[in-house]
Formats: sequence, C-alpha cells, structure tokens
Amino acid sequence: MNAPAVPAGADAYDQLVTMVAVADADGHCRFANAALENTIAVSRRALVRGNVLDWFVDAGPMRETLHALARDEVTTGRFEAQLKRAPLAPGDVLLVRVTATQLDAEGRVLLEMVEIEQQTRQDREERSLELARANKALLRNLAHEIKNPLGGIRGAAQLLEMELDPPPGGWRRKLGLREPPPKAVRAGFVRGLTEYTQVIIHECDRLQALVDRLLVPHRAPQVVGDVNIHEVCERVRLLILSEFPLGLQVERDYDISIPEFRGDREQLIQAVLNIVRNATEAMAESIAAGSARLLLRTRIVRQRTIGKGRHRLALELLIRDNGPGVPDAIRDRIFEPLVSGREGGSGLGLTLAQDFVQQHQGTIEFDSVPGRTDFTILIPLP
Ligand SMILES: Nc1ncnc2c1ncn2[C@@H]1O[C@H](COP(=O)(O)OP(=O)(O)OP(=O)(O)O)[C@@H](O)[C@H]1O
Ligand SMILES: [Mg+2]
Repeated sequence: MNAPAVPAGADAYDQLVTMVAVADADGHCRFANAALENTIAVSRRALVRGNVLDWFVDAGPMRETLHALARDEVTTGRFEAQLKRAPLAPGDVLLVRVTATQLDAEGRVLLEMVEIEQQTRQDREERSLELARANKALLRNLAHEIKNPLGGIRGAAQLLEMELDPPPGGWRRKLGLREPPPKAVRAGFVRGLTEYTQVIIHECDRLQALVDRLLVPHRAPQVVGDVNIHEVCERVRLLILSEFPLGLQVERDYDISIPEFRGDREQLIQAVLNIVRNATEAMAESIAAGSARLLLRTRIVRQRTIGKGRHRLALELLIRDNGPGVPDAIRDRIFEPLVSGREGGSGLGLTLAQDFVQQHQGTIEFDSVPGRTDFTILIPLP
C-alpha cells in the first residue's frame, strides 16, 4: 500500500508561520501548508501539481540538496534561497532559509522555509526580551537594597527634627554660646535646620514611591476573574475625563462581541491608564488648545503572533492620540525601566503596563509619527 500523500497531523502544519512543504525525491510537490500558499500566492492545488524546483530563482541548491538526500549523503540540508513570491510579479522575491529533511524510506523530503528577515526579527525580539528581564531583575534587587536603609534615613531625619525643639540643656549650650541667643535667632536656626530635615524627608518619600513602583508587579498577586475589556476602557475613560473635563475628546469604537476572558481587572486598568496618561501628558499643549483627541478601539484579531506564540483569537485594544509622537531618542527603549522623555517622568509607566499585559500572555506594541501615536495591547482570547 502506498504511504499517504500527506503525513499525519498535516492540519497542524496550517497553523504554522513557517512555510512547510513535502516533496518527492525528484521535487514533485505533495503538500504545501497555508503559510506557503499565502506567501507564494498560488493555490495549494496548483502547488501540488508542480515541482518545488520551480519555486526558487536559482534551483541549484535545492536540486543538489535533493540529490544528496536521495543518495543518503546527508539526512538534512540547509541553504539560503530566493523564493519567487508571486508568479504575476516576477521581481518579487523573498529571501528564505530552507531546511530539507529526509522524511521516510519513500525518499520524501520535508521542506521548512523561514523568511530570513523574520528570523532575525524574532532573534532580536527574543534578545531584547531577555535583556529586559535581566534589567528588571537587577532593578528589583536594587530596589530591595535601597528600600531598607531608606526607612532608616527618613526615621533619623524625623528624630533630628524633633531634636530641634529647645534642647534639654537649653539653646546656649546647644549652640555653644556664652549668652542665650535672642529668640529670633533661635527660631531662625530651627527653621533653617527644619528646612534641611524636610528636604531629606521629602526626597526619601520620593525615592520610596519610586522603589515601591519598581516592586509593584512582583508584590501584588494577580486577582483573577472574568474581565470585560470594555469595563476596563470605560473606567479609564471616566477617570481621564474627570481629570481633563475640557480640551480632550475621547472617542470610543468598541467591538462589543469580544468575549470576557480570565484576568486581573485592576492590573489591566492600571496598564491602560498608564498608556492613556502618557498620551495626555504628550498632548498637554493641545489639551490646553482644546484640540486633543484620544481613541479607544477594540477588535478581535485572528491568527496573531504574540511574543513567541501564535493565537487563534486575540483581543486588540488600540489607544491612539494625536499628540507630537514618541521622541526619536528613546523610541527603541520606551518599555525599559527608568527611560523617560519628559521632565519629571520616572520612566516606569510603560514598564509596568508591559509587565501587567505580559502576565496575561499578551504584549504591547506601538507605532508613532507626529500627530498619531498608536499603542496596541494584544491579549490572547480563549
Ligand atoms: N503617547 C505618547 N506620546 C508621546 N510620547 C510618549 C507617549 N507614550 C509614551 N511616551 C514617551 O515614553 C516615555 C516613557 O513613558 P513611561 O510611561 O514609561 O514613563 P514616564 O511617563 O516618563 O514616567 P511615569 O509614567 O513613570 O510617570 C515618556 O516619558 C514619553 O516620552
Ligand atoms: Mg508614563
């Protein structure tokens, strides 16, 4: 009996982003998956009537690999090649890395093809994700280290301030004077010193708040329940409108068919709020001028790659503003902690937002030009 033309589990190949084909030893195509069909823009039926050698600008490496596999010289061959993208656009080619593996005793060959640009992009994304993880761990440890002495410093400054009340031995002794100092001098002295202790206390509080925000996502456990994304959006919208009742127009474009999903509502509200707040901060001038616009749009997207995984269904929340855009200088780093493009910013808003969304297996992407900045939250749906 002949082996089936398509290996078991072929349906699963259609879920792959990688282009996959199965060919006979002479290159006659037996199977092509959906990714390949879409890329070459030729129907699967037409593909399986043809020969894989015709798919490439230069068929040489493919032919040699097929020969080597047929003669059992190798079990796997790898090479780079130019894949003809569409028959109607002859110049349109795609640089791919091809892996050809012997499939069975019949001499059939499994071909996997990955777009080289996509491969390097994935590598880059993975590297930057790892770097971000390492950075965060480092910051978290540092935050812990700072937190403890900080309490001590603040406490000491408070004690110092209390000491500034008339000391038990009197001001004369305290200040090392022969005569008691006049009242005004005493008061001035105390006031002057209190200003210093106040600076210490105030700065300690500021650092404490920063450190607390650095530690937040790891301290607060997730409170998981059913989340309706529009409830999240509405909470943020009302909060932000109460902050800016004038000058800011918030448009809504919701796809109400989006199902609920399991998640932490408060975390997601915080994530969306951080993004929206950045938008309002960037639009400060246009809010004052009354021309600031914000859009909250929800959609369901299909077959979407999020991080390393591909998801059948995902929720997409777009937050668009018409502000000046993300400054070029920090464009590649805005999700990194402590990276800020504005006066007084602590650079934690987006780090936290990204953390919260990642805890929902999602991600945040952005795209920004002057006049239009899009932040997109993507979360897999069940
Ligand atoms: N919608 C936006 N338009 C323009 N720039 C933006 C936008 N969103 C973020 N940015 C830029 O990204 C930077 C980083 O944002 P992030 O929220 O992480 O930190 P921050 O706002 O500076 O401080 P924090 O949120 O911790 O108070 C911002 O300082 C700003 O320069
Ligand atoms: Mg912010």
